[in-house]
Amino acid sequence: MMNRNITSIVGGSPVTGSPGGRITSTNPARTSEVVAEVALGDAGTFVAAARAARAAQLAWADVPAPMRGRAIAHIGRVIEANASSLARLVTREVGKPYAEALGEVREIVDTCDFFLGEGRRLYGQTVPSEMPDKQLFTFRNPVGVVAVITAGNFPVAVPSWYLVPALLCGNAVVWKPADYSPACGAALAELFVHGGGLPDGVLNLVLADGDTTFAGLEQALDEGYIDKVGFTGSSAVGARIGELTGRHLQSACLELGGKNPMAVTPSAELDLAVDAALFSGFGTAGQRCTSLGTVIVHESIHDDFVARFDKATRQAAVGDPFSDVVFGPMLDQKFADRFEDYLGSIQPHHSVLGSTATGRITAANPREGFIGDPDAGIFCHPTIVDGVHEDDVIFRDETFGPLVGVTTYRDLDEAIRLANLPGYGLSSAIYTRQPAEVFAFRRGISAGMVSVNNSTSGAEAHLPFGGNGKSGNGSRQSGMWVLDQFTRWQSMNWDYSGRLQKAQMDVTELTPDESFRLAD
Ligand code: UN1
Repeated sequence: MMNRNITSIVGGSPVTGSPGGRITSTNPARTSEVVAEVALGDAGTFVAAARAARAAQLAWADVPAPMRGRAIAHIGRVIEANASSLARLVTREVGKPYAEALGEVREIVDTCDFFLGEGRRLYGQTVPSEMPDKQLFTFRNPVGVVAVITAGNFPVAVPSWYLVPALLCGNAVVWKPADYSPACGAALAELFVHGGGLPDGVLNLVLADGDTTFAGLEQALDEGYIDKVGFTGSSAVGARIGELTGRHLQSACLELGGKNPMAVTPSAELDLAVDAALFSGFGTAGQRCTSLGTVIVHESIHDDFVARFDKATRQAAVGDPFSDVVFGPMLDQKFADRFEDYLGSIQPHHSVLGSTATGRITAANPREGFIGDPDAGIFCHPTIVDGVHEDDVIFRDETFGPLVGVTTYRDLDEAIRLANLPGYGLSSAIYTRQPAEVFAFRRGISAGMVSVNNSTSGAEAHLPFGGNGKSGNGSRQSGMWVLDQFTRWQSMNWDYSGRLQKAQMDVTELTPDESFRLAD
């Protein structure tokens, strides 16, 4: 496998030197394997990228939208042609099982397929005026320069949710991928630039750490180079970005964490609910923003559900992400460290299930049936924590690792209250055969996304994606809904009457006879 040397790309040229220092990106399933040597940028690199984007944006917006749609079409085809190499890189750099990595690449192609036609729509409206010889119109204008800062758990799919519509709408972009997935970032940027034939400066890549990025973003906002920020990551950083953009009278598109609940009701098909809990609790080692946080199971079926969930989790294949496993390693050491801290919140009133041990999987702390060499990488035991209480840390916080809490409820109102209690609001699920329960849950849940008899993860790429509360500020990505993030409505009125007709004043009123009644 190729070991890459990568650097930021500003205005079409690789940045020379490494003003922000150098890092090595390694394979979390085999930490001795180097995936890329990375030259980092500093705050000045971010500002230079924003300036290059500003310089390129107007010409890009002048490319007719249908032709920008063609660029998106070509990007989709080139990504499809490179699907296996890109998916292999995702697996090597962040440890996502290969089948899941291929699905992630598919999600980029789906996004391109959706937006390639939007280039021939990007509809505005014609609207009747209240006065004669006057016509009203609406247009969607690009916002300008968009800064996109993304996490590495979906190192290529989630960035494409921003990049594809932002570019299609005529914006130029500065993209900062996660510092633990720089090789995926560089590869995706190359596929976009080459595949789309994008002019220099339309898509800029900045490789930098978080603090440097924040400083660069602040400076670029101060200097007026950035018009919109899209951020996917933690609620804590999202709040800082929201504050920063708010000071610049902008509202960021924020896609943050989740503590996603799954209600399992007495009428649920229990084996289906178990399959879903396994996939959404432990898939991607629990490191999706849509990962299952807590199962809220009706007290009458609790024991049966937990016995089946424990059995399925014990039997689940864990290990080498190039094998057929439910999950592989943690994305990066820092996630393993934080996850292990959360394991310290397990209390005596909890019962811990799902594996032969908890914490790091090693030769000394083995998991039965582990596939591969656990000591070579950063692997954690899947952990079910039964008996969580509503004031437990494990109930309230996003643990971002392979841990699922279980609690019980008596009536659906209680299940909904518990589901909303942690204050996030991204995804949610209910298992039931009762339509009334589906609609009561949908109405009461604070989440932006509700799955019925399906897991909390696995949203399709053309429905609105986003959350409320600690999960985001109400922005929505994907499908036609994301267009409102990357365009601004402009209205135009055109009076050709040959005189000044004043709105609300020079209008002709018809004369109603309000006292009219039918004869009995
Ligand atoms: C994320 O974890 O940031 O629904 C996004 C899902 C994926 C996207 C997750 N399609 O789980």
